[in-house]
Amino acid sequence: MGEWVRASFGFTAGGEEVSAWTIRAGEYSARVLSYGGVLQSFSVPAPEGERDIVLGFDTLAEYEAQDKYIGALVGRVANRIGGASFTLGGVRYPLAANSGPNCLHGGRRGFDRAVWRGEARGELLVLSRRSPDGEEGFPGTLEAEVSYSLSPAGELTIRYFAKSDRDTLCNLTNHSYFNLAGHGAGSLAGQSIRVNARAITPIDQTGVPTGELMPVEGTPFDLTRGRPFLEGLAESHPQLALGSGYDHNFVLHTAPAGPLAPAAEVRGAGLVLTCETTQPGLQLYTANFLAGERGKGGACYGPRSAFCLEAQCWPDAIHHPGFPSPVLRAGEEYRHITLYRAVREEK
Ligand code: GAL
Repeated sequence: MGEWVRASFGFTAGGEEVSAWTIRAGEYSARVLSYGGVLQSFSVPAPEGERDIVLGFDTLAEYEAQDKYIGALVGRVANRIGGASFTLGGVRYPLAANSGPNCLHGGRRGFDRAVWRGEARGELLVLSRRSPDGEEGFPGTLEAEVSYSLSPAGELTIRYFAKSDRDTLCNLTNHSYFNLAGHGAGSLAGQSIRVNARAITPIDQTGVPTGELMPVEGTPFDLTRGRPFLEGLAESHPQLALGSGYDHNFVLHTAPAGPLAPAAEVRGAGLVLTCETTQPGLQLYTANFLAGERGKGGACYGPRSAFCLEAQCWPDAIHHPGFPSPVLRAGEEYRHITLYRAVREEK
């Protein structure tokens, strides 16, 4: 196991200092920022040498200017809350409508825009922050702790912990955009995805689940046996049209948390990326709304040039009693683990 090494990454527009933490483990390395808990790079051994497989930016100013959550930790509630409000314990909580009529990824200033405290504890980089009572409209002071670790076997593990002093909602994830051919490759050609889900939660015109479950069999959402991204995306299906591509929650299981289990696997460009999680859902997003952002080393990030595997509770679960509950009761512990393992593809 390697060690996390800190360097300054400059100051936010508001004058807060941001750290960049780098770790090397065998042939792998990763870099995490205290701003938004961003995974800035994940370099893996590839035939040509090191290959950085996550999208990102070179400077803090670019992270502050972006609105695509590239690499960031997302909270307090990842994904959409329909109608930008919810009721808990008989009280209605209005939220920011920052994505059409819905609240997306925690509101206007979600966890992705916060500067987290960072501390290296052995192989773990522990990022923590206190989200005050009422932040972005959510009840309760939430203590959140997210740690990153990297093993020489290519496992980037993210552990999530949270606790609140009042009943609240909590749904934390990481919003990294991957491209196995390298962050700047520009397309998902030649990459195939398998997802261990027999259903998705279909969406309406505003991107929130309708509340139904849609069996994937016979649709482009059947990724149980693995399919090239571009083949699935080329199909015609009303749900693909609504999401402008894949932008859907795949149903891993129906309990709020389960054992760490394989959720998805992407193959291509000589690599295999596996995602394992304790979460009940996986939002597969094919970066449909990237718009030519200028990324690391001048790379251009266009639509569908990457994929996100956002392990999380099902979107808008607070409005659907049949969905796994996103409620975190006062004093209860929220614990989840998601890991991404990248290895060379055996031929
Ligand atoms: C995804 C979401 C997309 C889009 C994206 C950010 O998690 O599902 O609809 O909002 O974040 O651009």
